[in-house]
Amino acid sequence: MGLLKMIFGNTRKPQGRLGKMMTKSMNGYSHAKMAEWGMQYLQGIQPSSVCDLGCGGGANVKRLLERYPQAAVTGMDYSEVSVAMTKDLNAQAIAQGRCRVILGDVSNITLPAVSVDLATAFETVYFWPGLEKCFREVYRALKPGGHFLIVNEADGEDGTNEKWEKIIEMKIYTRAEISDALQKAGFTEIRTYHHDKKSYIAVLAGKNG
Ligand SMILES: C[S@@+](CC[C@H](N)C(=O)[O-])C[C@H]1O[C@@H](n2cnc3c(N)ncnc32)[C@H](O)[C@@H]1O
Repeated sequence: MGLLKMIFGNTRKPQGRLGKMMTKSMNGYSHAKMAEWGMQYLQGIQPSSVCDLGCGGGANVKRLLERYPQAAVTGMDYSEVSVAMTKDLNAQAIAQGRCRVILGDVSNITLPAVSVDLATAFETVYFWPGLEKCFREVYRALKPGGHFLIVNEADGEDGTNEKWEKIIEMKIYTRAEISDALQKAGFTEIRTYHHDKKSYIAVLAGKNG
């Protein structure tokens, strides 16, 4: 269990060499499939300012830059390893002034209030220190009419929660728990989705315009 904890602890906050390896693997196939599945629910949303929270290795920052060529995209993560890898992967967009990557904790988002059209969080809310508190921070950063998309690989419904919660310091939430915290933080028009074969979930919430 000690070794597993050491390896998978790097999903919570990538650090050092193992963290670099983990971040690289998070940019790979399985997260890509899940992210692409979740992003289908963004149809009809045309943001000019996007922020990917808990951006990890930056693959979704890259995807968002491609999806929204007119938008400025910010990646944010509290891990220095994640920030470095996201910068590396998106160096061209950074040089073009379309992308920036900041070191920061979602419990205290330093972006100006009312500055973001779309916030995203892929495979990261499990680790956030209190959903409602962090969701309030996201709400504050969003413009009226803005959206917040959460995508998780684990739905909290298949009985494997305890196993992972023992290995990694994390909390696997159901769609109902996420929706409840979003509502308490002020979000409206909350829609939830479940993959028809896998345990992927997506939750899309809006800030009233
Ligand atoms: C499992 S990785 C997912 C990375 C990426 N979103 C993806 O889907 O590949 C979780 C990421 O969330 C970040 N994270 C966890 N808690 C955070 C917090 N409180 N503030 C900012 N980032 C956080 C971690 O550092 C890590 O890079």
